[in-house]
Amino acid sequence: MNTPKHVAIIMDGNGRWGIENRKSRNLGHKEGLKTVEKIIKLSIKNNIKFLTLYAFSTENWKRPNFEIKFLLSLLESFLKEKIDELNNNGIKLKIIGELKRFPKKIQINLKKAQKKTYKNKKLELILALNYGSKSELVNAIKLIKKKNISINERSVDNSLYTKGIPNPDILIRTGNTNRLSNFLLWQLSYSEIFFVKKMWPDFNERDYKNIIEKFKKIKRNFGNI
Ligand code: IPE
Ligand code: IPE
Ligand code: MG
Repeated sequence: MNTPKHVAIIMDGNGRWGIENRKSRNLGHKEGLKTVEKIIKLSIKNNIKFLTLYAFSTENWKRPNFEIKFLLSLLESFLKEKIDELNNNGIKLKIIGELKRFPKKIQINLKKAQKKTYKNKKLELILALNYGSKSELVNAIKLIKKKNISINERSVDNSLYTKGIPNPDILIRTGNTNRLSNFLLWQLSYSEIFFVKKMWPDFNERDYKNIIEKFKKIKRNFGNI
């Protein structure tokens, strides 16, 4: 039986949920944050060691300013209000993505939060912010060239943002859309993928548990028979 160590999630469908239930995309994002908190707790409960959440893609800058600003404000208040709780629960925060494009204040707070939680061992919470897999791979290739080291799978692995983190065992995408949207293209090579029809704010404990239980019974071949 497989036990999942690393779960990655494309948390999609906040906007549609918001329009449907609150007549506002932004209120859907706010509701989605409640699911984030629940899933963090449930991951610990299920002995998951790495949880990667796709929170903002390199392509999400195409959205209206009003929505981007709201997402940034949610991130800011999450950091301010929750970091001590995360820390007390043994959670290590790690950011993947290009932070330079974020406001200085957020960059500083993200750095502080990572530093504060660095030694924690219960769960590593990896937040993908201004993350794009293609840009990550281009950066990795540049880094390899700069260091003048040989090009092989290990050197690529070690040049990605996810250096040292095992590949996801499970990828979940909510929001009734079956695509990867530039998320972890290299790291997901052998992950088990679960597309969920529900919008992210409606994703609940039972949905999560069902996926983990299904995963446990899958025969993973990795090319073998
Ligand atoms: C995903 O939900 C969250 C972010 C991209 C921040 P969406 O905002 O993409 O929700 P839909 O897909 O428009 O419903
Ligand atoms: C993927 O969702 C990005 C995040 C969940 C942060 P999107 O809603 O941006 O993906 P597309 O544009 O529908 O592919
Ligand atoms: Mg979407």
